[in-house]
Amino acid sequence: MAPVIKLSSGYDMPQVGFGLWKVDNAVASDVVYNAIKAGYRLFDGACDYGNEVECGKGVARAISEGIVKREELFIVSKLWNTFHDAERVEPIVKKQLADWGIDYFDLYLIHFPVALEYVDPSVRYPPGWHYEGDEIRPSKATIQETWQALEAVVEKGLAKSIGISNFQAQLIYDLLRYAKIRPATLQIEHHPFLVQQELLNLAKREGIAVTAYSSFGPASFLEFNMQHAVKLTPLMEDETIKNIAAKYNRAPSQVLLRWATQRGLAVIPKTTRTEIMASNLNHTDFDLSEEDITTISGLNRGIRFNQPSNYFPTELLWIFG
Ligand SMILES: NC(=O)c1ccc[n+]([C@@H]2O[C@H](COP(=O)([O-])OP(=O)(O)OC[C@H]3O[C@@H](n4cnc5c(N)ncnc54)[C@H](OP(=O)(O)O)[C@@H]3O)[C@@H](O)[C@H]2O)c1
Repeated sequence: MAPVIKLSSGYDMPQVGFGLWKVDNAVASDVVYNAIKAGYRLFDGACDYGNEVECGKGVARAISEGIVKREELFIVSKLWNTFHDAERVEPIVKKQLADWGIDYFDLYLIHFPVALEYVDPSVRYPPGWHYEGDEIRPSKATIQETWQALEAVVEKGLAKSIGISNFQAQLIYDLLRYAKIRPATLQIEHHPFLVQQELLNLAKREGIAVTAYSSFGPASFLEFNMQHAVKLTPLMEDETIKNIAAKYNRAPSQVLLRWATQRGLAVIPKTTRTEIMASNLNHTDFDLSEEDITTISGLNRGIRFNQPSNYFPTELLWIFG
């Protein structure tokens, strides 16, 4: 069983979870079921991943077979950009809960600090970034408005903890001024090519747990043919990572995950391969030396993969500018 991180909300969050982005609908139910059997208890989902119904079926099967109880699971989901207007928040949380077949989320995050015009789920779901064709339409909702709507979601018992994703320092400082419920977690892209140490310092100082996503760096972005991902040596084949892995007799993937968890971060690796699930989960039973951690952090190149402008041309979404 993975160690846990105590959140500011008082709840325990498993430190190692399972990522659900790009898990195909056709296999998502089996993948979640197999991941539960492999020992995963945290699942990181989102409206945008378009697979919450299927993931929920995997959960339901595991519960009905007595493998796990709902209260032993930690189910995370995220508010998509088109639902930031206050009156849209609760209805979409309820739809997402119905899709999963559960009655509360353990953690619900603002996926991106970007408000876009509402798209009715009956028109298109998940809505994606574009209103129609290649048109991006901003909404006027502020993060304060959205956060307060999420606080109401907690008060109604629909989510136990709330948090943020893809936020950077200035906006976090602002949010902390008005938050009655502080963000329990910050989920960010984090791998040795994108360390973001100052953001980690801020989160630590403010008692916000950090979840690292895309721990394997370019690996997740090759399928988009992202040129800066394709051109890099994959992290798991990087000489520094391979040498350190050999020293500890571990897989390079486990070294990449341990580099994060040993520094107190949570990780949510994704794989559809059942044989790899256990190796990603059970990587916390060894420690890297401080020197090796520093060496891995030294690979930092400030390279970000997950930003809208890497997926489609736009002049409107410079979220990390
Ligand atoms: N908040 C956000 O904006 C955001 C953005 C991105 C991701 N996320 C979350 O973070 C999760 C993880 O990030 P991610 O999916 O981008 O990438 P990731 O977990 O870093 O990498 C996944 C890729 O690595 C492969 N892989 C996994 N374990 C491996 C291993 N032990 N050895 C070799 N290859 C391995 C997978 O292939 P196979 O599946 O073929 O094994 C897949 O291609 C997502 O699923 C999602 O839940 C959140």
